[in-house]
Amino acid sequence: MANPFVYGEIVPLEAFADREAELDRLVEDLADAQKVFLISPRRYGKSSLIRHALDAVGRQGALTVDLTVSSYSSYVAFLEGYARALASVERPWQRARTWLSGVISATRPEFRVEPEETGLARVSVAFPAVRSERDINRLANEVFALPGRLAAERKRNVIVALDEFQAIDAFDGGSVEHALRAAAQQQRRVGYVFAGSEPSLMEKMIGPRRPFYKAGPVMRLDKIPPPVFAEFIEKRFAKSGLLPEEGLGAAIVDLAGNLPYDVQRLAHETWDDIHAAGRKRVKLDDLHATLARLLGEHETMFEAVWQRLTLAQRAVLRAVVLQGGRELLSADTRARHRLGAPSSIQASLTALMKQDLVVKEGPQYVVVDSLLREWIARRTF
Ligand SMILES: Nc1ncnc2c1ncn2[C@@H]1O[C@H](COP(=O)(O)OP(=O)(O)O)[C@@H](O)[C@H]1O
Ligand SMILES: [Mg+2]
Repeated sequence: MANPFVYGEIVPLEAFADREAELDRLVEDLADAQKVFLISPRRYGKSSLIRHALDAVGRQGALTVDLTVSSYSSYVAFLEGYARALASVERPWQRARTWLSGVISATRPEFRVEPEETGLARVSVAFPAVRSERDINRLANEVFALPGRLAAERKRNVIVALDEFQAIDAFDGGSVEHALRAAAQQQRRVGYVFAGSEPSLMEKMIGPRRPFYKAGPVMRLDKIPPPVFAEFIEKRFAKSGLLPEEGLGAAIVDLAGNLPYDVQRLAHETWDDIHAAGRKRVKLDDLHATLARLLGEHETMFEAVWQRLTLAQRAVLRAVVLQGGRELLSADTRARHRLGAPSSIQASLTALMKQDLVVKEGPQYVVVDSLLREWIARRTF
């Protein structure tokens, strides 16, 4: 019997909860060759949603290309990865190579065969001669034009997903955005989804006076409605042969702060513990036993996180947990948790958000990792 809950990777379709309206909309917009912005904090399910949308448009006949911008250490490395991904739509590699050498004139692409662990060779593309900023910009214009050429040559729509797109900002400020927007705008048969995990950066990027202003529809991915997620979790338990106690799904969603990743993690680990014990029924107590095990396993890591914080940040983080993230600046909260002046609380919150420990959800501050939240509630004073 396999564990029906998946976390830390793209969720397969049968483990993918809800998101029907979002998926339909994304597929429709991409099929129309729109330039879509998909925004949410990390671990909400963007990459999984994109994977299923690309599969769907692929079945309709479009060519699809998928790239994670944040994996590249430089602008040129990104251009190399992007060129490779586009070229590899052509098969076999010999043809891809001829095609790429023919369409890139700014520099001579080099092709290297790199052995993979799987035994299958992987071909990589490199532009070793590109040095100056001028070289890079010329090359970028050609690479960004590739999806349009591909669509025209193959007479098919091309759909490009650029995941963790906010990372483009670090490459060289404005000029990447500008070049990419200018190219995309002319590509009538190319759909794009630009997905970003840092909402504040992404919102700035699509704001006025930036190249991507009004470039296309914006989708802000919310959390899954708790009752829907809870029911889905209970059904998955039942389908795999384990009988969940009434309210188990809701308790998991609640303990996990309804963050899709954390919900799946808690469900997965609870399932494992019950399965290992050879039992069939899953009780709320089992959930808490699994949570205690997970907290123990994360102890060292959470201690290290805690040690890195200043005293002021620790106090504010505890207040966020104990107050449920509300009314942090009120006189009452400040007195109860011995916090400093509002300005210093604000500075601590900003630092905590920058370290990705806390996010703001509407008026409320939330600890991103629900395990860390529980650890702070139980093990710090
Ligand atoms: N629709 C969903 N149904 C169930 N679990 C989901 C869903 N979306 C995301 N998850 C869970 O969250 C994890 C992170 O999803 P991912 O798509 O990588 O998010 P993001 O790209 O926004 O960081 C997945 O591995 C999975 O455990
Ligand atoms: Mg992702």
